[in-house]
Amino acid sequence: MSRFKLYRTSVGLFLEDRYSHQKPLIIDFSRIERRLKQAGRRTELLVQAVKPREGLRILDCTAGLGNDALILAYLGCEVTLIERSRVISYLLEDAILRARAHHLLSQTAERIELICADSISVLASRSLPDVVYLDPMFPSKKSSALVKGSMQVLQRYLGPDLDSEKLLDAVLQSGVKKTVVKRPPRTSDWNSRMRPTQVVESRNARFEIYFQ
Ligand SMILES: C[S@@+](CC[C@H](N)C(=O)[O-])C[C@H]1O[C@@H](n2cnc3c(N)ncnc32)[C@H](O)[C@@H]1O
Repeated sequence: MSRFKLYRTSVGLFLEDRYSHQKPLIIDFSRIERRLKQAGRRTELLVQAVKPREGLRILDCTAGLGNDALILAYLGCEVTLIERSRVISYLLEDAILRARAHHLLSQTAERIELICADSISVLASRSLPDVVYLDPMFPSKKSSALVKGSMQVLQRYLGPDLDSEKLLDAVLQSGVKKTVVKRPPRTSDWNSRMRPTQVVESRNARFEIYFQ
């Protein structure tokens, strides 16, 4: 019996970890409605770091559960999500389709495009966006303690993104003007070759901003 099971019900597509008692993972954008409303008040660190506005083109190179992308799209950005895990892409695609039929989320979901691929290859083949956003799964113990709920299932399914430094290098070399990187709080600068221009930090997260 394999550990992870992907299945569909009338509600949507689920990923179950059969070695855990945790509820199966479904990406449901309507669950973060409260966070969306708060984002509108610009108290979100993500919003302070990215400075979203109508029509800003964002390439989210580490899609995951799509939560950060949804906030940015809700605030008017055109977001291209890239996810290399085929299974997580299926879950995301399912969530986007449901959101497009949701009375409150449909316009936001229309601003989200999903590509299943490795971001490094996508970066080389597309015109540059206004902002690249990165939120890789870091192997740090500190970050695991902060990870909750659906993100725990994602972490168990995927494990850490051990090649994330290579991804940041590719992004910085692409010539994109602004790169925002989300990292665990109280960590030192990620990239040893280039210092972030600015850092926005709270108890729960750290955002490094690189301008070029
Ligand atoms: C921590 S999650 C991102 C969470 C996301 N920001 C959210 O709000 O739900 C990191 C995701 O990035 C994906 N990823 C990491 N490196 C990638 C790459 N080079 N290309 C595409 N996807 C990548 C992983 O598969 C994982 O799903």
